[in-house]
Amino acid sequence: MAKILVTGGCGYIGSHTIVDLIENGFDVISIDDNSRSTTYLTDGIEKITGKKVKNYKVDLKNFDETLAVFQENPDIKGVIHFAAYKAVGESVEQPLDYFENNLFSLINLLKCVREFKISNFVFSSSCTVYGNPDKIPVTEESPIKKAESPYGATKQMGEEIIREFSRAYGFNSILLRYFNPVGAHPSANIGELPLGKPQNLVPAITQTAIGKLPQMQVWGADYDTRDGSCIRDFIHVCDIAHAHTLAIQYTFNKKNTSVCDVFNLGTGNGVTVLEAIKAFEAVTGQKLNYKVGARRPGDVIAIYANNNHAVQSLQWDIKYDLNEMMRTAWQWELKIKQDEELMKKQNPILN
Ligand code: WQD
Repeated sequence: MAKILVTGGCGYIGSHTIVDLIENGFDVISIDDNSRSTTYLTDGIEKITGKKVKNYKVDLKNFDETLAVFQENPDIKGVIHFAAYKAVGESVEQPLDYFENNLFSLINLLKCVREFKISNFVFSSSCTVYGNPDKIPVTEESPIKKAESPYGATKQMGEEIIREFSRAYGFNSILLRYFNPVGAHPSANIGELPLGKPQNLVPAITQTAIGKLPQMQVWGADYDTRDGSCIRDFIHVCDIAHAHTLAIQYTFNKKNTSVCDVFNLGTGNGVTVLEAIKAFEAVTGQKLNYKVGARRPGDVIAIYANNNHAVQSLQWDIKYDLNEMMRTAWQWELKIKQDEELMKKQNPILN
């Protein structure tokens, strides 16, 4: 079985991708410093797959410790890189932390990839690289506009670093631009674990519904959209995860049409914030306590994907619809409530 290194393997999308890789016959190891994640999700991976995935608790900004993982695992055949800070608002307040963490980690990882000649590298990028698009849906050729946040800038710079790295040293890389990953594994053994008050929409919805938050704010309903609220392309995290397995297989089979191929990972459907809330209420029978507040600075008004390239070239077929996204997100919130005490004991950062 080919061994894949997943960085950020204890995180939301990383853990779901590890499950999909294992189910598709890969051997997986993880590097995750657990600064923003817990071992709770690796336990969940074991419950789903029966496999105990080894996680190296290493900070990728430490080159020697990162290199040591590759020296211990010279049979790594591919790398999927998730480990990064990803909170848009926090990046505005702490830009240096974001540039240092997200870019130093990437550069150290690429130095190891170069040293061990691992020519299958998949990067977790984001639709945030498109900024506020002039035309929607966006294709992979849509213009890259000025990033709306330092977080978005690190994704744009990361893509550029990988493109130049791949060109100069002859590596095959893939950039996967996620739209809005939501939902949880149908087993409810893994899902999203926001630290502190959730910034993203769906965890804010489920935490309000379960009573962790008193009320949810809809950040603006006076935009020029069909119901006044922003439009997003919500995509189930399991569909995103499977796209990573397909991407690794694509590079293994040398299908790259360039040293750095790019794919949009979205459903191609635009859904407004208020429509997402209505879908949650319909699926769960829960009336959501929310009120419409002021716009959130930096919010893109409307964005959704043209996903034809991923559907055709990766043979990516999307399995989960909006109702399943909301249902699985709710099942996961209910599961967390049951395991709350266990999680807090395992990782004090959750307190
Ligand atoms: C979606 C919509 C909010 C919370 C960001 C990153 C992107 C990716 C996903 C990492 C917006 C509204 C939200 C709330 C609300 N990050 N909202 N009330 O900003 O589209 O994307 O997260 O992979 O790269 O840019 O996601 O979920 O924060 O917001 O009204 O309590 O929901 O205003 O319109 P976003 P989001």
